Amino acid sequence: HRIDWDEEQVQKGPYEHYMLKEIHEQPLTLRNTMAGRIDGGNRIVLPEIPLTEQELQRIEKMYIVACGTAYHAGLVGKFAIESLTRIPVEIDIASEFRYRDPIVSDNTLVIVVSQSGETADTIAALQESQRRGAKVLAVTNVAGSTIARQADYVLATKAGPEIAVASTKAYTAQLLAFELLALYFAQTLRTLDDETRSSLVDGIKQLPHQVEKLLANADEIKWFAESILDRRSVFFIGRGLDYAVALEASLKLKEISYIHSEAYAAGELKHGSLALVEEGTPVIALVTHQQLFEKTVSNIKEAKARGARVMGVTVDGNVELLDSVDEACFIPRTHQLFAPILAVVPMQLLSYYTSLALGNDIDKPRNLAKSVTVE
Ligand code: G6P
Repeated sequence: HRIDWDEEQVQKGPYEHYMLKEIHEQPLTLRNTMAGRIDGGNRIVLPEIPLTEQELQRIEKMYIVACGTAYHAGLVGKFAIESLTRIPVEIDIASEFRYRDPIVSDNTLVIVVSQSGETADTIAALQESQRRGAKVLAVTNVAGSTIARQADYVLATKAGPEIAVASTKAYTAQLLAFELLALYFAQTLRTLDDETRSSLVDGIKQLPHQVEKLLANADEIKWFAESILDRRSVFFIGRGLDYAVALEASLKLKEISYIHSEAYAAGELKHGSLALVEEGTPVIALVTHQQLFEKTVSNIKEAKARGARVMGVTVDGNVELLDSVDEACFIPRTHQLFAPILAVVPMQLLSYYTSLALGNDIDKPRNLAKSVTVE
């Protein structure tokens, strides 16, 4: 494979672990992923995806197919594409999709997401989709990878080499790629007026700086990490996009800390996981979705009534959350669609500091591989 990353990019520098280095690289990698893709008039420029208005109009449905963290990025992608274009998007795990006789035809656009571009199940999903007549668009971080070579269109994430097994900067680059893609489709299909698009793009341009601000307060998350070290289980809850981030946050924690964790759509809590909440059980509630704020707060109260210790993650200004949680973490204000890019940062740090305190091999967690090239 052609990999054009230089040696310097893969040194740890002053960081103790690649994971911490990669978390801190995110302002830069977000800038790289948007570079050259926004013009002076805040229009999205993606010549690598030459789909015309007519071709996009023929698409009845899109599929997003991926594994692991890339699948979690796809959940946000589905949200962004559906809300900006109103085209229905189905999402599936690659190992499920490939064996379930998916309804895919030449009127379907299949989007595969893969950091490495070498995940066996995702490659199989790509090939199966093409066999059924669909065009495949790959969101991938490795130019020259199998997926990049076989896809019909490639939207490159520019996260640079990711060494730590637990994905961080590749995930936020995938989220940003999906935001750009959704805006690009909306622009081509004219489902968004210019003013709305332009203000969304202004929001995108703020993200690298906003991540910098979050990272400047990285230490604040350490105290919460301390409090989950000796816990049997941790629960992450959220609604809408916050649920997508909860899934990624939970995966991050279990991958490197080996603490059992589960993500629950907040409204589902009382359909199962609430039975496991007892005195002191840590519950991390993501509450960035303004319209769903009250709904999630009522779920927080249900957990607290059973003794949960709750950390809330919300946006600057939502101080009323402090009335219902034990601790809170605030992210900068942004458009709802972009909140996952910010909200995940304290979650990455939480799993990092928890694992650090536990003395685990953070960059190479037991039983896991960076790239799963066999089924
Ligand atoms: C492995 C890695 C994960 C990754 C997943 C999908 O499980 O440990 O970090 O999200 O594979 O990998 P891909 O390269 O296709 O994004």
